[in-house]
Amino acid sequence: MPKALIVFATRTGKTKQIAEIIAEGLRIAGVDVELLNANGIKKESALEGYDAYVFGSSTYHGEMMAGMKTLLFLAEKADLAGKIGGSFGSFGWSGEASDRIFDTMKHTFNMDMVSSSLRLKSVSVEGGIKMAQDYGREIAKKLGL
Ligand SMILES: Cc1cc2nc3c(=O)[nH]c(=O)nc-3n(C[C@H](O)[C@H](O)[C@H](O)COP(=O)(O)O)c2cc1C
Repeated sequence: MPKALIVFATRTGKTKQIAEIIAEGLRIAGVDVELLNANGIKKESALEGYDAYVFGSSTYHGEMMAGMKTLLFLAEKADLAGKIGGSFGSFGWSGEASDRIFDTMKHTFNMDMVSSSLRLKSVSVEGGIKMAQDYGREIAKKLGL
């Protein structure tokens, strides 16, 4: 069974909710998923051993949250080249974080990214749950499921 790691950074929980639904989509497709808060990851060894990585953060003042920035610096030390990747985040109006994470995973870590990042105000907007589940399924498809 392929393994995926989802890491989220959130202030009020909306990005965590998106992460949980993406995890659901992955699990339905047959992926073994681990879901972690970025603040709980202290060593790059925690990032080893997965086939796909999905990183997410909400946007504050045009930026991803500090915990996700730290996570990306740790991820730089782990060898994620060629691994499947995706990114996501909750936002209010501009939502830069998910694309910045996506670009870092693609251009700096040389990961095999899905078509785009997933930007959602929350899972409670119309169609939000389906979009997040479908994102999980898209990642699972890249894993050959
Ligand atoms: C002080 C503050 C600054 C924010 N800055 C932005 C921003 O620059 N762009 C944006 O799209 N949303 C911004 N937001 C909205 C949050 O991204 C939004 O509330 C999001 O759903 C929070 O998700 P979270 O619960 O995962 O942290 C801001 C919110 C606050 C309170």
